[in-house]
Amino acid sequence: SVLSALELGGVKIARDDVVRDDPTNNVPDSIFSKLGMQLHKRNQHPIGILKNAIYEYFDASYSTKFDKFDDLCPLVSVKQNFDDVLVPADHISRSYNDTYYVDSGTVLRCHTSAHQAELLRDGHTHFLVTGDVYRRDSIDSTHYPVFHQMEGFRVFSPKEWEASGLDGTSYAAEDLKKCLEGLARHLFGAVEMRWIDAYFPFTNPSFELEIYFQEKWMEVLGCGVTEQEILRNNGQLDSVAWAFGLGLERLAMVLFDIPDIRLFWTTDERFTSQFTKGKMGIKFKPFSKFPPCYKDMSFWINESFTENNLCEVVRGVAGDLAEEVQLIDNFTNKKGMTSHCYRIAYRSMERSLTDEEINELQVRVTV
Ligand code: PHE
Repeated sequence: SVLSALELGGVKIARDDVVRDDPTNNVPDSIFSKLGMQLHKRNQHPIGILKNAIYEYFDASYSTKFDKFDDLCPLVSVKQNFDDVLVPADHISRSYNDTYYVDSGTVLRCHTSAHQAELLRDGHTHFLVTGDVYRRDSIDSTHYPVFHQMEGFRVFSPKEWEASGLDGTSYAAEDLKKCLEGLARHLFGAVEMRWIDAYFPFTNPSFELEIYFQEKWMEVLGCGVTEQEILRNNGQLDSVAWAFGLGLERLAMVLFDIPDIRLFWTTDERFTSQFTKGKMGIKFKPFSKFPPCYKDMSFWINESFTENNLCEVVRGVAGDLAEEVQLIDNFTNKKGMTSHCYRIAYRSMERSLTDEEINELQVRVTV
């Protein structure tokens, strides 16, 4: 069912404000219906339980309390989402293939970093921002076009690093690593960790933290020392700062043994009843999996074809029944025409699908 309007942080958003018949709009109804769900505000849901466990770590580790935000509106300006955090004008993340645009100046935030600048301007120097973020993406067990992030941000004034003998950047980088290693231990216990050099437009240096978990290295978060320009533009003249951003689903999937990212969205009690407020140790017990139904489709592609667009069509027709879209054959003929064959896996978490109903969906995907 499609809502006609939703309330978010006391603001009412009408469907027509988001999903529009406008060439610069690429937000489908299936995405609009996710706005306002706020899984991260449910204390008995794995996403909310994980958010609270991270809050607990920051509350216990720092005498300066971090200001917490979990109700900021996911509709933000292009300026907030990209310009304010120095994302270059030609960066792919700005494309219509990667980001949901409501109109040419407004997007569904693709990261919680979209709120850094405004919170700095409002005078906040220690803050955590949790919220739903939106990215056009492929379909598989770990990718979903809506997920949740938590952003952390901390500003230091010169007197905090001057006594250390380090320059501001080194001081912030060291504090950042210590803080996040502590967080990883708080969540995962005694794990092996490593730091990987990374690139983000808004931090320099930038890092990714990986932990060795269940026999492989897993990326936990991205972070770094905030670009001076961001601080200067937002009223912090002599300071340095660090920032990090972590994806809650990715961590919740391994911490709670949740095998498929779509489960976070199910209202099936066999899922929701398994989790308890404040309890991190619980492992999800899968309920019987219903069989998948596979359908292959082949078609000639042109330059405008992208896999993200195909996935959006599939999700638009099949919703959460779409489990995976996989390229299984790629063929170019003598005339230079390319054909792709995709295998689509449909599966319900709640029931067996009939071949007839899936054929009907498949026909709608094909036209
Ligand atoms: N915004 C980044 C992302 O979504 C994560 C990040 C946040 C990295 C803050 C560095 C600092 O991937």
